[in-house]
Amino acid sequence: MSANVLEIKKVSKSFMDVPVVEDLSFRVKGGETFGLLGPNGAGKTTMMRMIMNIIQPDEGDILFNEQSRKHIKRLHFGYLPEERGLYPRSTVLDMLIYFGTLNNLSRRKAEVEAIRYLDRLGMVEFTDTKVSQLSKGMQQKIQFIAAFLHDPDVLILDEPFSGLDPINQVVLRDILQQYKEGEKILIISTHQMEQAEQLCDHICLINQAHVIIDGNIKDIKKKYRENAYIIETEKSIAELHQMDAIDILEEKNNAVKFTVTKKTFSIIDFLRKVKDQSPILKFEVVEPSLHDIFIQLIHEQASRGK
Ligand SMILES: Nc1ncnc2c1ncn2[C@@H]1O[C@H](COP(=O)(O)OP(=O)(O)OP(=O)(O)O)[C@@H](O)[C@H]1O
Ligand SMILES: [Mg+2]
Repeated sequence: MSANVLEIKKVSKSFMDVPVVEDLSFRVKGGETFGLLGPNGAGKTTMMRMIMNIIQPDEGDILFNEQSRKHIKRLHFGYLPEERGLYPRSTVLDMLIYFGTLNNLSRRKAEVEAIRYLDRLGMVEFTDTKVSQLSKGMQQKIQFIAAFLHDPDVLILDEPFSGLDPINQVVLRDILQQYKEGEKILIISTHQMEQAEQLCDHICLINQAHVIIDGNIKDIKKKYRENAYIIETEKSIAELHQMDAIDILEEKNNAVKFTVTKKTFSIIDFLRKVKDQSPILKFEVVEPSLHDIFIQLIHEQASRGK
């Protein structure tokens, strides 16, 4: 099975002459989890709505497997909107069947799929319960099922895990993992950087209508490494302080976080020197968190704009 590709090509959108998305381009490959990230008001939901064809770009195009989506007749979308919209007076099963049939499933198929997912998410006993009588998290699960019941080609989830307990988050991640195995498009937006870090293979960070960074999450983390390391040895911390080639940034229990300051002295030289004197109990390269990278980049953009 060849992977699908969704391409956003120079897309712009203004609301009442205010640009909300400006000349935005990125590519989403099937089989990866693509995180569309950015602060409040960055333009994420607007971009998602354009991909979904709910609103139209003023300029640019959105292509699916190299074909403009304007010319594609059958492309199945699944969308979990940030404003959740369920029918409170309907029963859970009726509502899911309704959503399934809106997405071209037969009534029978929609019913079978709805029950299958309700069972998987531990909600089969709520089949005949009115939506208004469900807890917030349960409603969230129902909305989730409604988004992928019909096995869409493109699945877009706006803040999918807000309001869900850790157990349900794990079940949903499993379902998403399975969906991805079909080499399909999966786009997630979230403000929770830890979640993005765990879930996404690729991220695109947007701010004030523009792309700030776009790439594989591992490459991005490598790029923003601060050349800091953590080491724990049998040597005393005081002895490490005496080494003139390093600068100690932080001490935690028996470990220290440091950078190498002498140009002619590499981290390998340092490790050799320490090892000759005492065993190394722990060593790691400090990776910046996505949270730190996000804040750094947004601040950099703000100071450039001043
Ligand atoms: N229908 C609309 N009419 C006018 N302005 C709009 C409309 N929809 C969005 N906007 C404006 O576009 C900008 C981007 O909004 P959008 O909802 O895309 O942001 P977002 O990145 O999803 O933010 P959040 O993280 O808060 O959900 C905001 O300034 C918003 O006020
Ligand atoms: Mg939004």
